Formats: sequence, C-alpha cells, structure tokens
Amino acid sequence: MLELVNLSVSYGNISALKGVSLKVEPGEIVALIGSNGAGKSTLIKACAGLVRPTAGEIHLGGTNLLREAPRRRAALGMAVVPENRRLFGEMSVRDNLQLGAYSQRHDRKAIAEDLAEVFELFPRLEERQSQRAMTMSGGEQQMLAIGRALMSRPKLVLMDEPSIGLAPKIVSLIFGAIKRMREHGITVLLAEQNAAATLKIADRAYVLELGRVTMSGKALELWETDKVRKLYLGGEAA
Ligand SMILES: Nc1ncnc2c1ncn2[C@@H]1O[C@H](COP(=O)(O)OP(=O)(O)OP(=O)(O)O)[C@@H](O)[C@H]1O
Ligand SMILES: [Mg+2]
Repeated sequence: MLELVNLSVSYGNISALKGVSLKVEPGEIVALIGSNGAGKSTLIKACAGLVRPTAGEIHLGGTNLLREAPRRRAALGMAVVPENRRLFGEMSVRDNLQLGAYSQRHDRKAIAEDLAEVFELFPRLEERQSQRAMTMSGGEQQMLAIGRALMSRPKLVLMDEPSIGLAPKIVSLIFGAIKRMREHGITVLLAEQNAAATLKIADRAYVLELGRVTMSGKALELWETDKVRKLYLGGEAA
C-alpha cells in the first residue's frame, strides 16, 4: 500500500531522515517508534507532501507520490492526523467533521453515513456535536482529529503521536478505536513514542533513531527485545 525507498529529508544542513525504507501492507497497523527528534513527524510530513525529500521515493499503491500535489494525495486515499491536530477551534465538532468529508457539499447522504460511522467509533463526538472544538478536552480533540481524517474515506491513515499528552485511560480508548479501524479495512501508520501501548496493537513496527531505521519486525517480537524496552522504559521491564 505505502512504500518508502531510501527516503532522505534535510532541513538546511540538518539531516532528519537518512535513507529510510519501509513498507505498509493493506490492512496492517504499522508502528513507527522513536524518541524526540527521531524523525517521525518528518516522515509523515514527507508522505503528506509538506516537506520535500532530498532523495528517495514514496509510492502509494502504484503511484509515485512525489509527483502528486499534496491535495491530490487525499484523493488517492491517504489521510493524515497531524501532530498538532489542526482543528478549527471556533467551529463546532460537527463542522470540523464535515470539513474532512470526501464529497464536501455534494452528497449529503454519503456525508451522513460517514458521520454515523465516526459517531459509532467515538460516541463522545456525537454527544458534543455542537460544542466548539477548542473547548473539547485533549482526548476529545484527538478523537475529533481522527474522526475528521476518517470523513475523507481513506484507505490509509497516517497518525502522528495520537497518544501525546493523554491519560492512559484515554490512550486505551483511542488505540481501541485504531484497532477497530483496522477491522473496517483501514490501513494505519502510527508514529509514537509510547512503545508499550503502540506495539500491543500494531502488526509490525520500525524503530527510528536519529533518522535511521535501526530495528524492524513483528510488533510483539520487537517489544520482547531488551533494547526496545530499555529505550522506551529507561531500563525498567514492563
Ligand atoms: N522545520 C525544521 N527546521 C529545522 N529542523 C527541523 C525542522 N523540523 C524538524 N527538524 C529537525 O529534524 C529532526 C527530526 O524532527 P521530527 O520532528 O521529525 O522528530 P520526531 O520524531 O517527530 O520528534 P517528536 O517525538 O519530538 O515529535 C529533529 O532534529 C528536528 O530538530
Ligand atoms: Mg513529532
């Protein structure tokens, strides 16, 4: 579904990604684990077309993404849930969701169906439909950012640290929803520092350190390695 080949990204003379290759197969949740500054957001921004790679390739299905304008990438079935969520704070929950809709104004029936699916995944959003986005809690705003991405009927969703700043109970709720997205046939690339929670729901994972993939494999097997536990738990076993 998504394939990165030798992808490199630099910001001036800072090299943020150094020849990263990875694959996401249809129906998988693939984790991208890395600590601060590893290059997770850079990788997602490169896929979204927000930063220009200095070398390498990105393919989505059979399409060379680097030849497609950022807004065309949504039409190809890719949606991004960005690090800072980028909600329209003054607008209602419902309006934020409708802005994500694939068919925008044209097909009211399709929009209503997609809204119903998002509300089934996150009942809290249905209860809070008319609340302004900026007054929602952090966890609710994360649900809204994910819900908005789903309104575009994506095949692949790229998520940048959805667990950041959230209490463990809310993280479980969000990650439960990500597992249900997989059951609905949506493929997910999940960038996270929270290795413990992420590796439990992911099928496969890549560990990113200083812009390079240093380990990859089945998520649960990676979680069993001492190195991953040490990196993400400060040496304590979970
Ligand atoms: N716009 C920018 N200009 C210069 N350097 C940048 C820019 N954006 C990111 N970097 C650098 O690129 C490297 C990778 O950053 P990136 O944001 O991709 O990491 P990350 O894995 O998402 O980290 P975090 O977990 O803290 O979000 C870091 O060294 C960062 O300082
Ligand atoms: Mg980041």
